[in-house]
Amino acid sequence: MNGRCKKLARTLREDEAFFVTSPANVFYLSGFSGEGMLLIAPDEAVLITDFRYIEDAQTRAEGFAVEDIARGIWQIVPEHIHTFYIEEEHMTVAQLRKYGRPGLRLADGGGKAIGALRLFKEPGEVEKITKAADIATAAFERVIDLMKAGVSERELALEFEYQVKRAGASGVSFDTIVASGPNSSMPHASVSSRTLQQGDFVTMDFGCVYEGYCSDMTRTVAIGSVSGEQKRVYDTVLKAQLAALDAVKSGASCAAVDAVARGIITDAGYGDAFGHALGHGVGVQIHEEPRLSARSAQTLGDGMVVTVEPGIYLAGKFGVRIEDLVVVNGEKAVNLSHFTKELLIL
Ligand code: GLY
Ligand code: MN
Ligand code: MN
Repeated sequence: MNGRCKKLARTLREDEAFFVTSPANVFYLSGFSGEGMLLIAPDEAVLITDFRYIEDAQTRAEGFAVEDIARGIWQIVPEHIHTFYIEEEHMTVAQLRKYGRPGLRLADGGGKAIGALRLFKEPGEVEKITKAADIATAAFERVIDLMKAGVSERELALEFEYQVKRAGASGVSFDTIVASGPNSSMPHASVSSRTLQQGDFVTMDFGCVYEGYCSDMTRTVAIGSVSGEQKRVYDTVLKAQLAALDAVKSGASCAAVDAVARGIITDAGYGDAFGHALGHGVGVQIHEEPRLSARSAQTLGDGMVVTVEPGIYLAGKFGVRIEDLVVVNGEKAVNLSHFTKELLIL
């Protein structure tokens, strides 16, 4: 059994097991990214998959016995197991029906227990996230060279995706956002065929996946020139972002860090135009715990990897978001986003 599974198994009684079906948790616990599920009992860890993946699973899933689902799930699950801890946030009704059987108790809490481990990244995980961030930053540098009036959002997004894959990423960590001109007021605008124009703000939000781990970063740049209002909004977001980064410390409450950025943006008169949370955890998924939001009850701790991404969005006009990815580390977070935040006018 590998170390992560051992930590989970320690919490179990003899007749209990974790039954893990979400792809993110299957990957996190086993290193296997094909279709399959895990059974983690006090003294055994089993990966259940099908013929297509057996060989791959045997190579990747360190510390797991690999079983073929063709044997029948109830042939594989040891008879003395009477409780499955499931990921209630993930399991579908169909799966519940399929994996329910008389005498087996399905209990909530599997997702929470695994989530508690995933919150704190091990050094090897931080290395992969760092590599993903470096690949994405280098690709963004190439994209910046192409940004000028007349180039479409789609061309820029495609160039980014080509560059990250060329550099060894398995893909993007979410649909790349290139939001130009009035599109930039939509925080998660979809890429369009709109071409950049003089005076546009362009918000590009991007990331890639390296060995299963995600990166996430956003920059807003200007094409040709900026108005006084654009400059004022940019400076406000930057001030909020820098102050919030400064507040990211081990032991700080997530809500308090959100409040630092929100306070600056509200004082500048744009409180209503910052309608999303300040940030989120990043790991095997692009959005994971903890949440840096006003409603969060979580506290930051060493080894958490989070984004800090305030924004101001003025519908029909323009928007600005600046996002860095950082590792919580005592009093001063380690910033993984190495690209200038001075306002670039291209
Ligand atoms: N890319 C999505 C986000 O920044 O949360
Ligand atoms: Mn992002
Ligand atoms: Mn983000």
